[in-house]
Amino acid sequence: MNRIFSGVQPTGNLHLGNYLGAIRNWVRLQASHHCLYCVVDLHAITVPQDPVELRSSTREVAATLLAAGIDARSSIVFTQSQVAAHAELAWIFNCVARLGWLNRMTQFKEKAGKDRENATVGLYAYPTLMAADILLYHATHVPVGEDQKQHLELTRDIAQAFNSMYGVDFFPLVEPIILGTAARVMSLRDGTRKMSKSDPSDQSRINLTDPPEVIAHKIRRAKTDPQPLPESPAGLEGRPEAENLLGIYASLSNITLEQACQQFAGASFSHFKAALTELAVADLAPIAAELNRLLADPGYVEGVLKDGAARARTIADPNLSQVHELIGFLRS
Ligand code: TYM
Repeated sequence: MNRIFSGVQPTGNLHLGNYLGAIRNWVRLQASHHCLYCVVDLHAITVPQDPVELRSSTREVAATLLAAGIDARSSIVFTQSQVAAHAELAWIFNCVARLGWLNRMTQFKEKAGKDRENATVGLYAYPTLMAADILLYHATHVPVGEDQKQHLELTRDIAQAFNSMYGVDFFPLVEPIILGTAARVMSLRDGTRKMSKSDPSDQSRINLTDPPEVIAHKIRRAKTDPQPLPESPAGLEGRPEAENLLGIYASLSNITLEQACQQFAGASFSHFKAALTELAVADLAPIAAELNRLLADPGYVEGVLKDGAARARTIADPNLSQVHELIGFLRS
C-alpha cells in the first residue's frame, strides 16, 4: 500500500486554505492509505517563535487535525521534534542537496524578503528538512496545496541524488497530490494573494476557529467586483476575487468550478455570498465545536501526540539505521 505523509506548521490558527488545500484531503486519504500527519515544530522555529505560544499552537493545531476528522488510531499523528530522526536525516540531506537547488526556492525568497542576510540558516535549509520528513518514512504520496509543489520537486531531486551517490534504489520518488479547485485559496481582501496565516489582516482569512457570525461577517466584507457572476469559468478572466469565492464554494460543495458558475450564472454577489456563508458555516462549525471540546483537555491531545511519536519512531529508526549503513557510519 502506498504511504502518505504530510505536515503542517504550528504557527497560529489554521484557516480555510489549509483545510480545503490539504487537511480535508488528508481526512479522505485515510480510508485507503497508511497515513502519517506531522505537526512540524522544527520548521516553525526557522523564524522566531515565542516558546509559550509555540507549545499552545502545537497542541491547537494537532487538536484541529483531530477535530477535522483525522483518526489518530488508524493514522499516525505526531510532532516532528519528538522523533529525532527527522533532524538527523535533514543534516544528511544538507550534505546531498546543492546550494544551487536551494537558491531556486521561491518560498525562501518570499519569506526572507529584502533582509536576506539576516535570515536563519534554518529558513534556507527548510526544504531539506521537509525532504527528510517525507523520505524518512519512504512515503510515496504527499497531499499539499500548490505552494508546496517546488519543495516536493526538490525532495525528488534529493532522493535521486542520494540513490545515485550510493548506487542504490533506496528512497522512492514522491508524487504530490494537489487538488484542482482549492489548491490555492486566496485572501478574501485581495484575490491575487494567497490566504495565509502570516497576513496581518484577520479579515483576509477564515480561521477554522471562527464562530459563525465572524465567518458571515468576513464573507460579507470579502472583496468583489461590480459585475454579476458569469455563466462559465471563462468569464472569470481578470476577476480574481470572483474566481476565488466561486472556487471556495465549489470546493466546499464538492462540485467543479464550471458547475458553481452554472448554479450562480447572472446572480449578484450578495445572493451568492449568503449561499457561501451557509455552506461554510455548515462545514466549519462542527470542527470548531469539536476543537473546543478537545482543547478543554490538553493532556489528551499531548497523549495522542506522544503515542503517535512512538509509532512513528518504529518506522523512522530502522530506516535511519539503513541510511547509516549505506553511508558507512559505524553501527551504534
Ligand atoms: P503550511 O503549514 O504552510 O500549510 C499546511 C498545508 O496547507 C496548504 N495551504 C494552502 N492550500 C491552499 N490554499 C492556501 N491558501 C494554503 N495555505 C496553506 C499547504 O500547501 C500545506 O499543504 N512546508 C509545509 C509543511 C511541511 C510539509 C512537510 C508538508 C513540512 N514538512 C512534509 C508536506 C510534507 C508548510 O509550511 O505548510
